[in-house]
Amino acid sequence: MPSLNINATPMSLTINGQTLETRLDPETPLLSFLRNDLALNGPKYGCGLGQCGSCTVLVDGQAARSCVIPLEGVQGRAITTLEGLGTLAEPHLIQQAFITEQAAQCGYCLNGMIMMTASLLARTLSPSEQEIRSELSSNFCRCGTHVEIIRAVKRAAQLMREAKHPQVGKHGT
Ligand code: FES
Repeated sequence: MPSLNINATPMSLTINGQTLETRLDPETPLLSFLRNDLALNGPKYGCGLGQCGSCTVLVDGQAARSCVIPLEGVQGRAITTLEGLGTLAEPHLIQQAFITEQAAQCGYCLNGMIMMTASLLARTLSPSEQEIRSELSSNFCRCGTHVEIIRAVKRAAQLMREAKHPQVGKHGT
């Protein structure tokens, strides 16, 4: 359990666009803070060793494993969790793609798969299958939903390309 140190200098963190301060031990893993203090339960605790990817968040737009990042390591940086991508009412296009492709069985790995996809598609909206496989290769799915997950990433890329360059109708509408 992370300890509160009232004498510590407060750390300023920006999470899903909101800036907040904490006096927790600076060594506290980001994942603990997100889940235990902010009830942001999108990121999951899997291995706790940086190996499975279930705790993935974005730090300045890049995928990072929140179980092994101390709070002091993300001061002043923009952290995005699954909750920051989209909502139930308005899911992100990546989340829509995963729903459409039914790319989940138990769902435990999904946070990591979706956040890795967000990181990949921020770099390219036309990833090859090899690039997708390579990006997700260190994220574990124990149920074997890989085929659906890869299809979901391709669908997400397509949706995001279309959103960026919407097809113009016959009459320019
Ligand atoms: Fe962080 Fe497994 S819980 S990588």
